Amino acid sequence: MKVTVVKDYNELSKYACNEIEKEIFHNHCSVLGLATGGTPLGTYREMAKGFQQRKLDYSRVTTINLDEYVGLEKENAGTYHTYMEKNLFQYVNVSSDMKFIPNGTAEDLQAECERYEKLIEKKGPPDLQILGIGTNGHIGFNEPGTSFLSQTHIVELTDSTRKANARFFTSEEQVPQKAITMGIKTILKSRKIILLASGIKKRNAVRTLLEGKPDEQFPASILSEHPNVMLVVDRAAFED
Ligand code: GLP
Repeated sequence: MKVTVVKDYNELSKYACNEIEKEIFHNHCSVLGLATGGTPLGTYREMAKGFQQRKLDYSRVTTINLDEYVGLEKENAGTYHTYMEKNLFQYVNVSSDMKFIPNGTAEDLQAECERYEKLIEKKGPPDLQILGIGTNGHIGFNEPGTSFLSQTHIVELTDSTRKANARFFTSEEQVPQKAITMGIKTILKSRKIILLASGIKKRNAVRTLLEGKPDEQFPASILSEHPNVMLVVDRAAFED
């Protein structure tokens, strides 16, 4: 795993944006794997700026999101559909039929997982996957204990993950109990992965990631087995 330490969140966001823009510049038909949460917000802001200032064209880019909550209508303010529209898609010209996010209101959730896995096989895998990391080491919504061989599946969210994500809802009770997420095996199919970690709250997770051997109790640890992973971390998340 290549590690890049940057000064702060601002630098981290610019760095990640630059990597994504390089990818698209070299391959106009890139497939991007996208994450949600607080960490990539700055990256998306930079991408929006880049679209205006550098006239980067996203019209042939495909985006595939990692995960979505179960049971919320797409328009609900807390969904990742809303998050992506609000923070990225309204600012760049990704074509509406080339952006993919799991459907958390599908009647048959198991069938939805299978459909999404097939879709990733057909459209992907991502040339570049952006990941954040949960304080418990989760990637996507793959909580500790998830099999490294998992494909897209339904997860029961842990209390700590629901708590951490409560800020995107009016209260913790509003955070759904379940989500659909790409599995760990699915994520590992990506050609290149950039894992972003920022702030003091992620320091322990970053330390475990860098010290540890692959362990299903810390999902991100499997990334050490992938041939092309870059950890971009700011000083607050890296230094003692
Ligand atoms: C959520 C998302 C993850 C994200 C994680 C960390 O659980 N499903 O994809 O990486 O939160 O979020 P944050 O960046 O807000 O710390």
